[in-house]
Amino acid sequence: MTRQILVTSALPYANGAIHLGHLVEYIQTDIWARFHRARGHECLYVCADDTHGTPIMIRARNEGISPEELVARMHGEHVADFRDFMIGFDNYHTTHSEENRYFAELIYQNLLQGGHIAVETVHQAYCNRDAMFLPDRFIRGACPKCGAVDQYGDSCEHCSATYSPLELREPFCALCGEPPVSRASEHLFFQLSHYETFLREWTRSGALQVEMANKLDEWFASGLKNWDISRDGPYFGFAIPGQTDKYFYVWLDAPIGYMASTLHYCQRTGRSFDTFWHPDSTAEVYHFIGKDILYFHTLFWPAMLKGGGFRTPTAVFAHGFLTVNGQKMSKSRGTFINARTYLDHLDPEYLRYYYACKLSNRVDDLDLNLDDFVQRVNADMVGKVVNLASRTAGFVHKFFAGRLAERYPEDGGLFATFVQAGEEIAHYYEGREYAKAMRTIMALADQANRYIEEQAPWNLAKQGEMAALHAVCSVALNLFRILMTYLAPVLPGMAEKTRSLLDLPGLQWASCQTPLCGTTIQPFSHLMARIDPKRIEALLAAARPQESTQVAAQDPPAANSPEERVALPSSSAPVAATPTIAIDQFAQIDLRVARIVQAEQVTGADKLLKLTLDVGVLGTRTVFAGIRAAYQPQALLGRLTVVVANLAPRKMKFGLSEGMVLAASHTDSTDKSALFLLSPDAGAEPGMRIQ
Ligand code: 2FM
Ligand code: ZN
Repeated sequence: MTRQILVTSALPYANGAIHLGHLVEYIQTDIWARFHRARGHECLYVCADDTHGTPIMIRARNEGISPEELVARMHGEHVADFRDFMIGFDNYHTTHSEENRYFAELIYQNLLQGGHIAVETVHQAYCNRDAMFLPDRFIRGACPKCGAVDQYGDSCEHCSATYSPLELREPFCALCGEPPVSRASEHLFFQLSHYETFLREWTRSGALQVEMANKLDEWFASGLKNWDISRDGPYFGFAIPGQTDKYFYVWLDAPIGYMASTLHYCQRTGRSFDTFWHPDSTAEVYHFIGKDILYFHTLFWPAMLKGGGFRTPTAVFAHGFLTVNGQKMSKSRGTFINARTYLDHLDPEYLRYYYACKLSNRVDDLDLNLDDFVQRVNADMVGKVVNLASRTAGFVHKFFAGRLAERYPEDGGLFATFVQAGEEIAHYYEGREYAKAMRTIMALADQANRYIEEQAPWNLAKQGEMAALHAVCSVALNLFRILMTYLAPVLPGMAEKTRSLLDLPGLQWASCQTPLCGTTIQPFSHLMARIDPKRIEALLAAARPQESTQVAAQDPPAANSPEERVALPSSSAPVAATPTIAIDQFAQIDLRVARIVQAEQVTGADKLLKLTLDVGVLGTRTVFAGIRAAYQPQALLGRLTVVVANLAPRKMKFGLSEGMVLAASHTDSTDKSALFLLSPDAGAEPGMRIQ
């Protein structure tokens, strides 16, 4: 029976690039969707950008563009990254869409009418200077438990304590540095506790992995809390109907994006939305997610769907996080790798295969060990699979006009064994046990390689044993076809090349049970190259933040004070004493617009911030600026400023400073925090010359 299946991956935020951590999930889901299609089922795979919320609004503001412009740009980048990793979405939409607004309002109205929305007054941190309530991540201060300074408003990176932002000691606004005040506001709360009975049943309906169901039991035991679904303006999101200057919290409309993307697809293709989302739908709906967003997908989301008048998910599949070489991804180690950086150096199918080899249906973290990655891809893909075709297809062309044997030859039962293994492999794919599926497929590949080694077609060719040669090559190519059919969900690009080599209409699971006989194949062309370990080195180098490598860590301190790296007017020099300069002297200073793409504190230098600047055509520069008293690093991210680009680089204790950023202050001020970085008007771009 043909199943109707809808699968989704979590919607990536529109304020960041796709990286290898994200790709664990997209590759896992894509393999599952392709597998079901290859088995003849209808499987729709939808996703979208998650576009709303304060971080996106602030980033757009810092870039001097509208949030709409920012999300449109990120959408383009995300779509290109997914396309190049062969993630075969049927639809990739955005939560900032009319479809999404429609469903967000509809679900909210239904919850409201059902009596599931309550109004409560909450006290939150508010910044008077920025005239906005501050989300937890936009408040910093000292940890109330261990005292570590400069911690986020919700948790301490030093002692891992979690707390409310109002508990932070010496809190300050991450945007402007002012201490926030506590301010009251009325918020709307979704009464999650009304759904406890339903959620307990849903949890036990087979919708969750065992570890997840256990986690939910803990949450039930500690009591379901009502959920704040509103935010005060300014906020980038959908205005809540019937309210003034209140918006749906980003997490309210994010999962609704799954429905919006489905509707967008259905409108484009003439399919029926109700097939998937009607309360009586018999279609299956699966959400693939990371373990960190379980609460949203297994409590809020099913309850919202139930109260909103839609069907609930068949199951939610959670996976663990990615580590690289056994550690958290790290920018300084070069292991925080964006999708695009990877694609600039390596074939996406290497990663798809490697992830498949490591994925199970459990919630464990997945390690990308780069040595193992090279070894496994080269040994399995190139050494075991590609080999089958590359060692035999040439003979078929050279001696048999490209034609396979008319009748399937005696092969000692190999073909039958390969077909029979198909059900076990399908069972593993279905159960998201991809590592087991890959192991089973590679065991078959080993059998096929042993057969070729034993039969040694190269010797048969030399000895002129043409009938035997034809038979061996025909067997090998038939076995190769079955293996590639089983691998096709993981390796769609190589599967397509195989389909074309064997001149087939497709690589459907069912059709590979009948051998190919008397058909003509196309000339063999390259299927997959070995990974050269040098490419891994190049990838890691490219992923590391760009900085001068010429300065060793033990370099002596520079003679000049670090504070000189920001152009401060001298506090003692009288204005009248400043000598005039000629225009051509001024023209020698190369002033450029730069975007601050990274800003961090410098250990051991309490006045400095280390800035990484994107200077457009001039590339990336590292500058040490004495502005720490005036700015929190996070508040500078994405901001445009002005840099003296042709200042001679200067060795400092902490590294090489390759320019100077410009800031204003009173000539007579000793207050180091009374500093104002210069910024061009909106519309300026990194690299533009200031003249
Ligand atoms: O955690 C995240 O990256 C969110 N953007 C995921 C949203 S998934 C769904 F609910 F939209
Ligand atoms: Zn502020």
